Amino acid sequence: MNDQTVPVITIDGPSGSGKGTIAQMLALDLEWNILDSGALYRTLAYFMLEEGIELVDFKKNEQFINKNFIVKFDPAAIGEPVKVIFNNIDVTNKVRTEEIAKETSHLAANRLIRDFIKPCQREFMLHPGLIADGRDMGTVIFTDAKLKIFLTASIEERAKRRQTQLKRQGSEVNMRLLLQELEKRDKKDMEREHSPLKPAEDAVTIDTTNLSPDEVIKEINKIHKY
Ligand code: DC
Repeated sequence: MNDQTVPVITIDGPSGSGKGTIAQMLALDLEWNILDSGALYRTLAYFMLEEGIELVDFKKNEQFINKNFIVKFDPAAIGEPVKVIFNNIDVTNKVRTEEIAKETSHLAANRLIRDFIKPCQREFMLHPGLIADGRDMGTVIFTDAKLKIFLTASIEERAKRRQTQLKRQGSEVNMRLLLQELEKRDKKDMEREHSPLKPAEDAVTIDTTNLSPDEVIKEINKIHKY
């Protein structure tokens, strides 16, 4: 049973809106736990690919997956990505490739997968608090969160940020292709039947296009004191 007294702040939004950076800054600042739910979906996609388990065979393999899907997050340090530890192995870079992103978008649209991931996400509700970063944190997973933030940014700015992130990982990606992929993924995430990407009714939306991470944190602090 999850401890309902654990305070949760949800940070939702599309790829490149700044969710990851802002969630990390808040987690480090408040010394709270962090859930990077996108990375959780990515790690599941990575695991299934490694094991050669197709989506159609998910149900058949659910017990095996459940037993072996142990993911932990470490907020790391500003400027570094949040660390993803899967079965005691650091898979941070392995799950952040474009190949895994494409596969994940497909998996994340599936009801069975979302139902499987939901309780895994709730397990991250641990004292002293949780920063939950994703697409449906405020609308579906932590509906009773004390603060819900929805971040947006122009698609050009988001593609630029993604390109910088990929470059840092050593991958060169064509900007035009990146824009196309981002558009496709946005459409899929927003139009899917299960848990589509949208702000919760009680979320505060912040457009980060022309804001630095510190300015976004200032905006959040204006609406909320911890
Ligand atoms: O934020 P990201 O790029 O790491 O997310 C990877 C994929 O997972 C993306 O296609 C959206 C999906 N996702 C989701 O459906 N629900 C979440 N809560 C988080 C991510």
